[in-house]
Amino acid sequence: MTEDNPTQSDATPDGARTGVWLIGARGSVATTAVAGCAALASGMHPPTGMVTETDAFAGSGLPPLGQLVFGGHDTASCPLPKRAEHLVAGGVLPHGLPAAVYDGLAAADACIRPGGPLPGGSLSGGPLPGGSLRPSGAEGEDPREEDELIDAFAADITAFTRDNALARTIVVNVASTEGSCRGDDAAMPPSSRYAAAALRAGCPYVNFTPSTGLHHPRLRGEAGRRGLPHAGRDGKTGQTLLRSVLAPMFAQRALPVRAWSGTNLLGGGDGSALADPGAAAAKNAGKERVLADNLGGLPEGQLHIDDVPALGDWKTAWDHVAFDGFLGSRMILQTVWQGCDSALAAPLVLDLARIVARAHEAGIEGAVDGLGFYFKDPDSGPADLPGQWHELLALAGRLRAAA
Ligand SMILES: NC(=O)c1ccc[n+]([C@@H]2O[C@H](COP(=O)([O-])OP(=O)(O)OC[C@H]3O[C@@H](n4cnc5c(N)ncnc54)[C@H](O)[C@@H]3O)[C@@H](O)[C@H]2O)c1
Repeated sequence: MTEDNPTQSDATPDGARTGVWLIGARGSVATTAVAGCAALASGMHPPTGMVTETDAFAGSGLPPLGQLVFGGHDTASCPLPKRAEHLVAGGVLPHGLPAAVYDGLAAADACIRPGGPLPGGSLSGGPLPGGSLRPSGAEGEDPREEDELIDAFAADITAFTRDNALARTIVVNVASTEGSCRGDDAAMPPSSRYAAAALRAGCPYVNFTPSTGLHHPRLRGEAGRRGLPHAGRDGKTGQTLLRSVLAPMFAQRALPVRAWSGTNLLGGGDGSALADPGAAAAKNAGKERVLADNLGGLPEGQLHIDDVPALGDWKTAWDHVAFDGFLGSRMILQTVWQGCDSALAAPLVLDLARIVARAHEAGIEGAVDGLGFYFKDPDSGPADLPGQWHELLALAGRLRAAA
């Protein structure tokens, strides 16, 4: 952390503001990010959990927190100040914070536009700028509708950038997790339509969820062709963060892992979205990949996600690791992670938006190397957290050199 100032002072030279367009802008993670950014920018809270506020990124030219402007798409209509009050009731945000950052929440709320179909294509989101309804656009439907919806989303993002005189806008997907997408050229799931809209609007894209996003076959390579940076997938905030530290430890100490089992209990919107087996499968694929990549194969053991509405945004994750010691002695490691999901995720969302904004400014195109530190299922790079940290520092150095 920089010593005298709770937030980095190395503003972009021209002082232009940066847009952060959140897909799922009324969700827990998005609301915590918007409220938290306002609280940090005004010095109300220290930037705990934000790597971009440490010395690692000093002088890298990241946009300051006070110059981030928020907007986004959502299919829900609950105003952000009210959503923030719900998060206080759930123990996610501190008492008094929504009132203290009301202006920031209200300003972001005014920039939220109706989103498109819900995961599964079941519902239209709301009115288009011209007053008509967003097309329902279920998978497999008319490609013209799909194109119109992407155009409408892109127009929303372009208007936000123009109306707020922003230097650039970063689109970040923090919407509900959708089920795995078919690996063919079929109609795009909602996350891919938003990703396509981001590119159409000339914006860098970050996928903080396991949803398909830019991984749809029709979008592969498209960001690089348009000269835009992107990063993903699925923020690494709890159980998988711990796995990316522990799995390399077993491998490096030559301790064969016989079985690795895990259970997650969580509630909130994420818990109910992950009660759908398709969405849970998309999430678990990233969690398991961390083990397979670090251990050279997937050990025995299952991974479960249980929706427990009473827990709200708080998650308990158990891991049970059975491993062999010297002369075949059998040993067990058990871990319990209890965390507030959105409080873990929001600082990462802010970090990623700032880093990818700076990468765009520095002319970096395609998948940004060095961001595996933040993701369960990164596009490239090492699978162990120490290796990923090393790569992140190298990225900070490249951004500094370009400053
Ligand atoms: N620690 C974490 O919290 C964490 C870690 C990694 C990834 N994630 C991912 O972040 C995402 C958000 O998590 P959350 O806890 O904020 O969930 P949430 O349910 O609180 O919020 C999701 C928001 O997305 C909106 N939404 C759903 N479909 C949409 C669509 N088609 N268009 C626009 N908006 C849509 C919902 O209305 C809701 O407001 C999830 O996909 C989750 O898996 C969270």
